[in-house]
Amino acid sequence: MSGLFIVTVASEKGGVGKTTIATNLAVYLKALHEDLPVTIASFDNHFSVDHMFALGPRPAAGMQELLHGTPSPELVSFGQYGVQYLASARRLAPPDAPPRSLRARLEGLGLEGVLLLDTRPILDWFTEAALLAADLVLTPVKDRAALVNAAALRAVLQEAGRDGRLWLVPSLVDSRARLSGDVKVGDFLTFAAREREYQVVDLVISKSPRVESLASGFSTRIRPVLTHARQTAVHGQLKQLAEFVLARRAAAPAPPAGGGVPPAHRRLAVECPVCADRALDGAGHAFFDLRSRRRGLIHPQCLAELLGDCELGLLLAPESLFVIEMAGPGMLDEEPELQLHLFDAGDRLIASERPPEGGDGPLRAAVEAMTGRKWQAALREWILIAATAGPADDLTAPAAGRSLAARRRTVLREAMGKVR
Ligand SMILES: Nc1ncnc2c1ncn2[C@@H]1O[C@H](COP(=O)(O)OP(=O)(O)OP(=O)(O)O)[C@@H](O)[C@H]1O
Ligand SMILES: [Mg+2]
Repeated sequence: MSGLFIVTVASEKGGVGKTTIATNLAVYLKALHEDLPVTIASFDNHFSVDHMFALGPRPAAGMQELLHGTPSPELVSFGQYGVQYLASARRLAPPDAPPRSLRARLEGLGLEGVLLLDTRPILDWFTEAALLAADLVLTPVKDRAALVNAAALRAVLQEAGRDGRLWLVPSLVDSRARLSGDVKVGDFLTFAAREREYQVVDLVISKSPRVESLASGFSTRIRPVLTHARQTAVHGQLKQLAEFVLARRAAAPAPPAGGGVPPAHRRLAVECPVCADRALDGAGHAFFDLRSRRRGLIHPQCLAELLGDCELGLLLAPESLFVIEMAGPGMLDEEPELQLHLFDAGDRLIASERPPEGGDGPLRAAVEAMTGRKWQAALREWILIAATAGPADDLTAPAAGRSLAARRRTVLREAMGKVR
């Protein structure tokens, strides 16, 4: 499925777990579905998103520019755990436009996959805009007051004919607490919410001291439940919530066809990823990055130089295929590692090789150009490169012959079985 699926986490009540749910959902979605682009942005000025996801220096642009500048992919930064984010702003003023205009701005970021929006505990311009932009709204409720408050969010959605997108999530529930008799708080909330004709996600997020400690203490870094509180019940609950989001996304109507630039062209690289000169005029080696689906041509001379020190070059046969595999830091925070694999015309893996230690600088640069992402933002990248040079027509007309995109399935299946 293509198109952007926007999930807004909102509640007028403060401290119900919005930010905890939004930030952790991003990590769990990515962990469950490695190939899914996941982006997060927050309208509050607590910088929680930045404290969990920022890598390196503070990005020059983010939310402020999204609302008051021209939206473009440059506003999105690569972050920890393979999640992209928009840098939060200290003072965000609403733009001079109606809240319903936000969706178009967000689409200007050129994102795919899932975008999570964390909101403020007040129904202001930003929260209203985030509600109207959403394909799915998650509203954490921890008590009766939060449930009563949810009515205002529902009214905004109802007016736009979108209240079917609202789902309540019982949150911060003390699993030991009982109301009168033997009724658990979570069960009561679910019951009371359904009585008011809300859709309620079939799970509760428990209150856990361990989870609470992830966002407190002296460090400004906020750690995800996935990496630092796996032993808690909240771990399984967030995983379930992420599965719920994926299921809603799968059930969402397909985006209208024919709008904007055809994806195949948007992802066509005009330059050779090795020398950066124009590459589509003559023959070249086709490349195809599995994650971004970017494709283009590498000059024959450039590929020869790039692989000059590798022994795989000696085993080449017509129709064979290189794969550059990069096992990225992902959840583990390790230095990305490169491996080259060679597949024959029948998509069988015939050899694998690690490039010489320290000698992979040009390869790294080429990988960055081919994937369109920084080296440190690698997760698990697979780039297919045709060993035989061909014309650019093969890239733009994937039906002709066996395109790299068509071969990827067999190559991947073969590789997953043998490489690891
Ligand atoms: N499952 C949980 N167990 C224990 N503590 C939690 C849990 N979820 C969140 N908290 C804690 O509760 C507090 C409020 O959580 P969080 O910041 O996510 O709520 P919020 O709705 O975003 O708040 P605000 O309205 O201020 O933005 C934080 O201290 C957080 O660490
Ligand atoms: Mg918050």
